Amino acid sequence: MKLILLGAPGAGKGTQAAILADELGIPTISTGNILRAAIKNGTPTGMKAKSYMDAGHLVPDEVIIGIITERLAESDCAKGYILDGVPRTIAQAEALERAGIQFDHVVSMEVADATIMERMSGRRVCEKCGASYHITAVPPKVEGVCDVCGGKLVTRKDDAPETVKDRLTVYHKETEPLKDFYKSRGVLRSIGDMGSVEATSKAILDVLR
Ligand code: AP5
Repeated sequence: MKLILLGAPGAGKGTQAAILADELGIPTISTGNILRAAIKNGTPTGMKAKSYMDAGHLVPDEVIIGIITERLAESDCAKGYILDGVPRTIAQAEALERAGIQFDHVVSMEVADATIMERMSGRRVCEKCGASYHITAVPPKVEGVCDVCGGKLVTRKDDAPETVKDRLTVYHKETEPLKDFYKSRGVLRSIGDMGSVEATSKAILDVLR
């Protein structure tokens, strides 16, 4: 199973990717998480990506295509994978096609911008493993502590309201055209805002089965 989760920043891609990875037994690949780890480790890729990410802009296609090509060649991807946050431009989607990759499903998670703004203001992420929470909708068992690894929960720098607005603008301009791209390949499945995390997972699994 090769699956893409498409959606605006904060649509819930990371949250659903973690649930689907458990359910389907395949890894999740998040370019956002890979880039944040690169920044933390001070690698050349991380240093190149940081200013774009802080500003809510997209990291250049050639950097992303390099990262994703390398990651998909790893052995744990042999049985399939879930892409979270990639591709994000037509150029990235075309590069994946040129590499001979065909997707079974591209799930577009449709969430209104106003809902996104609310969700992002309450998001907390684990600084160690990247797991994502929400202070009311998806709270951790112990406030400020990651359920998965015990790491500290922090607010992402790019979740500041002004940066989220910029990220939404970038999404509508650069990423939303991917819906037509994958519709023309016959693999686009759209999921409306189902409200809860659980209802969203069920809706996605229903379209995959
Ligand atoms: P990235 O990390 O990929 O961020 P994003 O796509 O903007 O998405 P987010 O991680 O912000 O949101 P999400 O959809 O995963 O939502 P989540 O599940 O956390 O990218 C960051 C940056 O890296 C980019 O801006 C760019 O600079 C760069 N980058 C990465 N990939 C790139 C690429 N391919 N090309 C170029 N640049 C790239 O949920 C959000 C919140 O809502 C959480 O608090 C969660 O608990 C809560 N929530 C989730 N579902 C629900 C629900 N159903 N009800 C209520 N609350 C919910």
